[in-house]
Amino acid sequence: MEVTVRLRVAVLISGRGSNMRALIDSCLNNESRAEIVLVISNRPNAGGLSLATKSGIETAVIDHKGFTDRKAFETELGRTLKSANVELICLAGFMRLLSPDFANGWRDRLINIHPSLLPAFKGLNTHERAISTGVRVTGCTVHFVRPQMDDGPIIIQGVVPVHSNDTEEKLAERVLKMEHHCYPLAVQWIAEGRVRVIDEQAIVDNSGTATTQLINPER
Ligand code: GRF
Repeated sequence: MEVTVRLRVAVLISGRGSNMRALIDSCLNNESRAEIVLVISNRPNAGGLSLATKSGIETAVIDHKGFTDRKAFETELGRTLKSANVELICLAGFMRLLSPDFANGWRDRLINIHPSLLPAFKGLNTHERAISTGVRVTGCTVHFVRPQMDDGPIIIQGVVPVHSNDTEEKLAERVLKMEHHCYPLAVQWIAEGRVRVIDEQAIVDNSGTATTQLINPER
């Protein structure tokens, strides 16, 4: 019998964990080359923790408030990840900035999802800023993490239209749906060994070509 070795993935969350759930669901597929082995939250009351438990995934709470400084928090984080033999970390709504030391220590093994088309709208309140700027399209980005916030080689981007009557909530919902599509794809590609970083660009073998063009979508 052939035994498939799966990439050992940890998901770091701080909140409801809908992206975490999309990652868990896609890894439950028999064909998946990735396995979510651990979910870590820095907030004890994060909704995603019970979702993970229900799916039979091991969880850990590392509450940043229990540590004197960022270094001590990250030392515990690193220890927990190493003891679970984690090979890839996915940040999914993890609301703590990671230090350059941590980001460099996990270079090209640490990815994040951001709800905008980077490098546009780094930071918080991305949907509010997309609406007030008047951009016609926005979306989400999965990227390798670098020491600067919301920076690093882009693995995948998904585009959605911005409508003239959009509220922040409506737009957030549209983008989130796209996030749930893109994040699992990025993880599967990495697990299949199809993603390389060359000269700070993520090269994806056979990622397929999108045929849909989105030019000034109807507002
Ligand atoms: C997502 O919009 C993600 O892009 C951002 O934080 C949000 C987390 O949502 N980094 P969820 O916890 O995955 O539902």
